[in-house]
Amino acid sequence: MNTVYSIADARAYVRQARSEGKKVAFVPTMGNLHAGHLSLVHKARESADIVIVSIYVNPLQFGSNENIESYPRTLAQDQEQLKGENVDLLFAPSSREIYPQGMEHHSSVAVEHLSHLHCGKSRPGHFTGVATIVCKLFNIVQPDVAVFGIKDFQQLAVIRKMVEDLYIPIDIVGAEIARDEHGLALSSRNGYLTEQELEIAPNLYQILQEAKELILQGTSYDRVLRDAFAKLAQSGLKPDYIDICCQHSLQPASQDDKELVILAAAYLGRARLIDNVTLTLP
Ligand code: PAF
Repeated sequence: MNTVYSIADARAYVRQARSEGKKVAFVPTMGNLHAGHLSLVHKARESADIVIVSIYVNPLQFGSNENIESYPRTLAQDQEQLKGENVDLLFAPSSREIYPQGMEHHSSVAVEHLSHLHCGKSRPGHFTGVATIVCKLFNIVQPDVAVFGIKDFQQLAVIRKMVEDLYIPIDIVGAEIARDEHGLALSSRNGYLTEQELEIAPNLYQILQEAKELILQGTSYDRVLRDAFAKLAQSGLKPDYIDICCQHSLQPASQDDKELVILAAAYLGRARLIDNVTLTLP
């Protein structure tokens, strides 16, 4: 596996692959890779000849109250893991490469409305930061396919909307949530949890599943949400939000919506955990 750090080298690699008629899949990450990221790589491999992964901790998607400096950076271990997965190219640019004129007064991509719901309420500017970096990375790598985890359900929706609205010719593929043996969705942020917090964290998924069961039994959405919010707080998590939405619009579910997603975020120690479950009503 080659690692390149410059836009010019990444583009040269892709140009060569394309001239050989190869199909390119791309997995953007912020590094500190775990089994969840590797499942995205497997998914990417299913649909392409060449798999490119990027590692870049994007300052633009961190709020002023979120400490980007403490975000885990583990490039050497990440490279080993990606080699083990036969990834073809790692693109690991610096901020100087990505934002050569700094982050003031640069162009950005705002996916209006969707970006302000759910996680966007407590992380203002986050999804504009995500859409901007993903758009830049798409323009650098120009893949045929890009893979994102369904764990970040709203992020995936924002990227799909950006690609649709801006006519970006890339197929966006969602990969299933990878979980540990207790049901906790894998995330780099789990590394912030203490041993005791790791015992509490799986309650998030447990409570989402219980909410799903209640909906399937016909319980009103208001009641399900009240019940889940209370259970989250009792379990030792500090709920940020829990919402029952239409899977496609991410608007609060109406009685006519059949394909639903329950989205939730909760604080636990230094971590903010997110998770979701989907369901289809008969
Ligand atoms: O999901 C992530 O790791 C990041 O938000 C992404 C998509 C790599 C953009 O920085």
